[in-house]
Amino acid sequence: MNLLPTATATAPGPGPGPGPVAAATAAPTSASAHATSPQAGVFITFEGIDGAGKSSHIGALADAWRDRGRTVTLTREPGGTPLAEKLRALLLADAMDPLCEALLMFAARRDHVCNVIEPALARGEVVISDRFTDATFAYQGGGRGFDWQVLHTLEGWVQALPDGHTRQPDLTLWFDLTPAVAAQRLAGAREPDKFESESAAFFERVAAGYARRCHAQPARFARIEADQPRDKVWADVLAAVHTHGCWQGQPGQVA
Ligand code: TYD
Repeated sequence: MNLLPTATATAPGPGPGPGPVAAATAAPTSASAHATSPQAGVFITFEGIDGAGKSSHIGALADAWRDRGRTVTLTREPGGTPLAEKLRALLLADAMDPLCEALLMFAARRDHVCNVIEPALARGEVVISDRFTDATFAYQGGGRGFDWQVLHTLEGWVQALPDGHTRQPDLTLWFDLTPAVAAQRLAGAREPDKFESESAAFFERVAAGYARRCHAQPARFARIEADQPRDKVWADVLAAVHTHGCWQGQPGQVA
């Protein structure tokens, strides 16, 4: 598991931080757990702008892990718990100001982290999530122009572990596609939700937000060129899982 030290700017500190994820459900807190246990939990996230084509590969990657004898928790954000799914319905439909949107995203995430992600990792499962916090930096930070530092603070609170680390994915598969091509793929596919209805300029800012986040934490990111035939994209997904040490039970140790 990827356990980044909590940066000074994000540390819960003496302020109104919520405290860490409950210790009873927390995953092992030492990165060295991977060296001794082949069944250490693995946390993989899929990211990208709407229309980037990640959906079919998420299920395929879950199947690939199951073929290797691993138990997989397949989940999504916003959502993944009964409470977070209720918040998702609001977030994808209702207009709200950027602070309200960011807080609801992190409220949903807190419930998801505490009740699904951390318990599954503690059981040694593979957790695959369709989006996680990088989406908040990209959509709310990039798309809406919401304050990046405030997002860092919320991230530090919501993903705080008992030892002071911040939970991060071991591997983030970022499906990178130009907004123009993504819009073509989405056109006529179904009734667009609140985010899918946003302008081309919004998605340009979201894409820039993903690029910024990738640049800041390059070790856990794999940029997948999504504008390729599906089998080539799939091959790139498998290669990224391999080169990031996930199959080998040593995520975070890039080959
Ligand atoms: P997604 O699961 O991709 O929706 P679907 O598969 O139904 O198209 O994502 C839901 C939307 O929520 C998507 O437009 C991105 C947005 N989103 C944010 O704006 N911030 C976040 O933190 C997350 C997790 C998602």
